[in-house]
Amino acid sequence: MPDKQGVILSGMRSTGQLHIGHLSVLENWALLQDDYECFYMVADWHALTSDFDDTSHIESYRRTMLLDWLSAGLDPRRSSIFIQSHVKTHAELTLLLGMIMPIPWLERVPTYKDQIQQFAKAGKDIQTYGFLGYPLLMAADILLYRANLVPVGEDQGAHLEFSRELVRRFHHLYDTEIFPEPMPKYAKIATLPGTDGRKMSKSYHNDISLAADEPEVNEKVRSMVTDPARIKKTDPGHPDICIVFTYRSIYDEAGIPGLREACTGGEVGCVECKKKLAAVINERLEPIRGRRAEFAGDAGLVDDIIAQGDAKAMVRSEETMTLVREAMRI
Ligand code: TRP
Ligand code: SF4
Repeated sequence: MPDKQGVILSGMRSTGQLHIGHLSVLENWALLQDDYECFYMVADWHALTSDFDDTSHIESYRRTMLLDWLSAGLDPRRSSIFIQSHVKTHAELTLLLGMIMPIPWLERVPTYKDQIQQFAKAGKDIQTYGFLGYPLLMAADILLYRANLVPVGEDQGAHLEFSRELVRRFHHLYDTEIFPEPMPKYAKIATLPGTDGRKMSKSYHNDISLAADEPEVNEKVRSMVTDPARIKKTDPGHPDICIVFTYRSIYDEAGIPGLREACTGGEVGCVECKKKLAAVINERLEPIRGRRAEFAGDAGLVDDIIAQGDAKAMVRSEETMTLVREAMRI
């Protein structure tokens, strides 16, 4: 790939339908496709670190996420789109890296204890070897492609730092330099509140899914909570506590100047403000809907895309494994 600037590997856990909060990451991925050799991976083994007790959705979640990706503009002619569990070298590299992995490094990853507590509150114990190893598996994903750049949401920062430390340790122990230190490329927004102001989550029914059609978007936006103190249009509004305002500042950059004043000055009504928001979200989703219709109707096409992506991922990762086995003399 002489004219490319380097290699990209990124992925997402397949845990169900993506929502508009994921758009910024996906758009980032799509933009990088010309300049880098891109590998985009459905992280189904990572999904298993928390969903090990109910694996009945794994297949359908993989499929749903693939459709979301293709609809959002990932292009199988330019990128290798593949499934983690199909490329077994991810397991081999995880095992080998595990030999040099200090357990305290894993225990001090900030998301580790957080997540254990979150799950414990919901009555689930995820203190497993697999979950402790989440960042290790992720480092193996990245190193296996000798990726230079990893486009992710900001929430993945600690995991990326972890991968770079592991690269340095590997190089030091085996006196080699086979891996580039993978640099993050962050997407602008990482989190978006749900339509009721709580965390956006499918289980709260407060998300706007990437697959939402126009009536659904209109209805979700119509039901959004605004400033509760505002009854009449002329009442002064408080944009800072209004999630419609938060959404518009993300999806309607052109419309946002002046909105704060118009709202606090009682010059614009919430109904009108929401109509504008629904319109910009629908505009943004329109091309995605078009592509979804094409791919959703052709299961064979999606199978072929994966088969090709898997094959390319296998070639690249085998090359890396040859270097790793040589370096470790195993
Ligand atoms: N941890 C990432 C997330 O939750 C998913 C992921 C798995 C990933 N392996 C990766 C991201 C490798 C980037 C690179 O979104
Ligand atoms: Fe929120 Fe818009 Fe109503 Fe102001 S006008 S309170 S920003 S919905």
